[in-house]
Amino acid sequence: MATGGDDPVLHAAVPSLPARAYFEADAHERELRRIWRRHWICAGRSEEIAAAREFRQYRIADRGVLLLRDEQGELRAYLDSCRHRGASLCADERGRFARAAIVCPYHAWTYDLQGRLLRTGARPPPAGFDRNAHGLWPLPVREWNGFLFFCLDPDPPPFAAGFDQPLERLDAWRLADSVSAHRTVLTIACNWKVFWENYNECLHCPGVHPELSRLVPIYGRGLLEARDDPDPRPRAAAGDPGTRDGLRHGARSWTPTGEAVGPEFPGLGAADRRAGHVYVTALPSLFVVGHVDYARAVRLRPLGPETTELRVDFLFPREALATPGFDPGPAVAFAGRVLGEDAAICETNQRGLRAAPDARGVLMPEEYAVRSFHDWLRTEGAID
Ligand code: FES
Ligand SMILES: [Fe+2]
Repeated sequence: MATGGDDPVLHAAVPSLPARAYFEADAHERELRRIWRRHWICAGRSEEIAAAREFRQYRIADRGVLLLRDEQGELRAYLDSCRHRGASLCADERGRFARAAIVCPYHAWTYDLQGRLLRTGARPPPAGFDRNAHGLWPLPVREWNGFLFFCLDPDPPPFAAGFDQPLERLDAWRLADSVSAHRTVLTIACNWKVFWENYNECLHCPGVHPELSRLVPIYGRGLLEARDDPDPRPRAAAGDPGTRDGLRHGARSWTPTGEAVGPEFPGLGAADRRAGHVYVTALPSLFVVGHVDYARAVRLRPLGPETTELRVDFLFPREALATPGFDPGPAVAFAGRVLGEDAAICETNQRGLRAAPDARGVLMPEEYAVRSFHDWLRTEGAID
């Protein structure tokens, strides 16, 4: 759930996107072009390619990317296409190169881990062939808090541009040193925008997330934040916990009992501890929620116009995992249930959009962050 501006609530009903924008091939292709091939994309965790020569493949629609760690520990990314006749460079999805070389499986053109072409085959290349002009196509890469990012555009936007918070917002969680204790992978039958729209409002919370609504009273009222409350005073005077942000009284984390499952991240400030959840969103592919004892990272990528993949990591400090008896189960169970509820309702949304392809929905005052998401898509030229 994102946070809005100073006066976030919409003062008029505004149209949503045309239903066709959620399933038509042309619309999807335009979004791939304007969003997914132009913005920074989170491909996973640094720990997945921690050692020199480790690699993994990543794919956004038809674009394959080879991510690797070179001998100096630098993260590198290349378009997964050999400069000879275009073959994919690796048969395996992940692994570790036996030596500091990428050998194309087709005719064995060989590149070093910096992407330079070393060898072209049995015979020497013909006179005039410029090896330097036939290196792998490099892509911009970044690491942030232990997350790997690349951009399919060689001239990427500023890295911070996709974030709704300062890049330092989660520094206290020391996520680069945290490790994933559990990963869930989900494929949802919905357009990727449906997922982000659902993330950006809590109107659905009372009906879709009964347990979460008890843990976070303001969500139980269908509001993202207390400042969205049209008239908080009478309820506050009556002691209604649904007038303030944060978890219900006595709860510390997103678990069935509200208890934390491990020690708190030591660097958290009082406000972050009180909040119980701190959201950072990096459109279009990642959001991270910092709780006092764990952080939840949800990565998203479109597999097609009506199919979206989610990868959820439950990140804990290394020391927590090493503690005897440590069990992330309650956190995984609670947050997993919420995600499952969101996944199911997103699929319900998608089915209905399909049934009325010429329709256009309408956004209510509380859906200001959905509107912001649409504005972003418009600014990027992904929709009209
Ligand atoms: S396509 Fe890669 S070596 Fe021929
Ligand atoms: Fe939800």
